[in-house]
Amino acid sequence: MSSTDLTISPLDAGAFTADRICRTRHDCHMHPLFELAALNELARNLARVDKCRFVRPGTTQASEFSTAGESPDGRDIDDVFARMEEPGSWIALYNIENDPTYRRFLQELTGNVRALVEPSQPGVFNVQGFIFISAPPSVTPFHIDRENNFWLQVRGRKVITLWDHEDRLAVPQVGVEEFIVEHNLRHVRLDDAVAARGTCYDVGPGDGLYFPSTTPHMTRSERTWCTPGDGISISIGVVFYTETTRRHARIHACNALLRRAGLAPRHPGHSRLDGAKAALGLAAVVVKKRFRGWDSPHGF
Ligand SMILES: [Fe+2]
Repeated sequence: MSSTDLTISPLDAGAFTADRICRTRHDCHMHPLFELAALNELARNLARVDKCRFVRPGTTQASEFSTAGESPDGRDIDDVFARMEEPGSWIALYNIENDPTYRRFLQELTGNVRALVEPSQPGVFNVQGFIFISAPPSVTPFHIDRENNFWLQVRGRKVITLWDHEDRLAVPQVGVEEFIVEHNLRHVRLDDAVAARGTCYDVGPGDGLYFPSTTPHMTRSERTWCTPGDGISISIGVVFYTETTRRHARIHACNALLRRAGLAPRHPGHSRLDGAKAALGLAAVVVKKRFRGWDSPHGF
């Protein structure tokens, strides 16, 4: 199978819009690039540029989502992969486009992504890939991301829980704003009331979900789901920005200034002043970068 054979397709093609959650199918699980030996080699290459990430043992869905560049017990990449089936193993491979082979995979998938997304959100840019490999029981904590995401299950079973990206009871407006502008997740917190508002999707190989930027999400897998010889879960995130995500990021930058001035600005998409706010937000970002040496997060 070559990369050009790979496709992502919505379950209901007529209903797809990049503005809300949508179930998909894909065939990345058939591809040799996502076999464990190939991923071991990819991880070796990414470790050289500090793109392999690990979570602390004992991490729960309610934990702060923080990762480290070293395995918690000090093992090297090959040893981590050799013992990947051990319960609780967890490694994430960030920015797989740093590897030429996986960069080609993403480039070839980009045409597919554009065809699906651009009718509702033009201007796809900066397509990146993330791969999550774990052995149940494992979790990914509750968090939001800046990018839109095609999340693809390649191997094993996982439950991914999603919330509407407009659900301000799940994540308050200031929580989204601080994350986009300051890359700070301190207001993005899971409690029982928030958990009750999520929708769980039980996914296996070939299943996927599309979700827009700032959609709250978390995952879990259970040891009882494993069968002998099949104890590993692999998921891919194909993530990207669009003109919409960029416009919203700029509005958040403006809103952060307005909030500091004591005002209560509306969330992007809810104000007639969004056009002016996006322009002001861009100006604020340019000034911060040029005169204060601000190393801004991506997507502005
Ligand atoms: Fe995420």
